[in-house]
Amino acid sequence: MPTRFKLNTGAEIPAIGFGTWQDESAQEDAVIEAIKAGYRHIDTAQAYRTEKAIGQAIKKSGLPREQLFITTKLWNTKHHPDDVPKALQESLDDLQLDYVDLFLIHWPVAWKRGYEQFPKENGRVVLEDIDYVDTYKALERLLQTGKVKAIGVSNFSKAEMEKLIDNTSVVPAVHQMECHPWLQQHDFCEWHKAKGIHITHYSPFGNQNEIYSGGHLGRLIDEPVLKEIGEKYGKSGAQVALAWGVTREHSVIPKSKTPSRIKNNLEGDFKLTEEELKKIEGINRKIRFNDSSTAFGKAFFTDLEGSPA
Ligand SMILES: NC(=O)c1ccc[n+]([C@@H]2O[C@H](COP(=O)([O-])OP(=O)(O)OC[C@H]3O[C@@H](n4cnc5c(N)ncnc54)[C@H](OP(=O)(O)O)[C@@H]3O)[C@@H](O)[C@H]2O)c1
Repeated sequence: MPTRFKLNTGAEIPAIGFGTWQDESAQEDAVIEAIKAGYRHIDTAQAYRTEKAIGQAIKKSGLPREQLFITTKLWNTKHHPDDVPKALQESLDDLQLDYVDLFLIHWPVAWKRGYEQFPKENGRVVLEDIDYVDTYKALERLLQTGKVKAIGVSNFSKAEMEKLIDNTSVVPAVHQMECHPWLQQHDFCEWHKAKGIHITHYSPFGNQNEIYSGGHLGRLIDEPVLKEIGEKYGKSGAQVALAWGVTREHSVIPKSKTPSRIKNNLEGDFKLTEEELKKIEGINRKIRFNDSSTAFGKAFFTDLEGSPA
């Protein structure tokens, strides 16, 4: 049985999900392949421009809707509370769905309202003065419509999480964040556990994402410790990186457009021993590959572990 974790809503999230950022034109086939392989959790975002492809793939799969867990995210240009219901509806229309299982605030920063994905003036992104607390309250209201089953956030710092919880009534079900054996974030993860907030690891293979810098570090999935642990189980370093998340009771959302990897990644659903977790603790380089602070016009992750590659 594939592992699933219980959210604070009572719903279950499959431990291994399927990431769909980048390679837009390959995503319909990739998601068809993923569903065929057994993935039941798919991660997307309005900003990825992959929702339409995913909608098509889901439709073609013929799978009953209730067997799938679909996450999408609100983009930075849609933070005004009046824009939130419409943004969700646009995502639902593209996905050809009546509801999503999880709706996340993609980044804790608001940009100029409208349809320009990266609104810029003089080379700089144009910010909007909207508090993410007010945005989140608009997400809370969506829960009443049945169009979202759970809400949460992504890329928030600890101070931002604390402010959110102190000023809203629904504790986020999920925080999606960069997490992998080179950015382990143990303290922050413990904090989430105490609050009942499930964590999803994005970029679970660290610097494997082609647009990240950090090539000079070698590949995280080639770390000798991961490969050595994998040998015992007949698994690859990549599968051990996923199992490391699953063992910590976090979901992981690897992305791949390659059929063999799509299948192999799903087999990262197994548990490591305490001793193996300890060994992996020893390779925490505290490197963050997805820090958009400069490009996005706000300093993110200021109180968290990890420096840019
Ligand atoms: N919330 C956020 O701000 C945020 C940010 C980043 C990512 N995400 C989500 O998290 C998902 C995963 O993160 P990611 O796309 O950054 O990176 P990732 O899943 O860590 O890595 C993807 C890269 O690894 C390659 N790959 C996949 N499986 C492999 C394997 N078994 N062995 C070797 N290489 C493998 C893929 O290549 P091929 O595709 O060519 O096979 C692709 O280049 C995203 O797709 C997205 O859904 C969310």
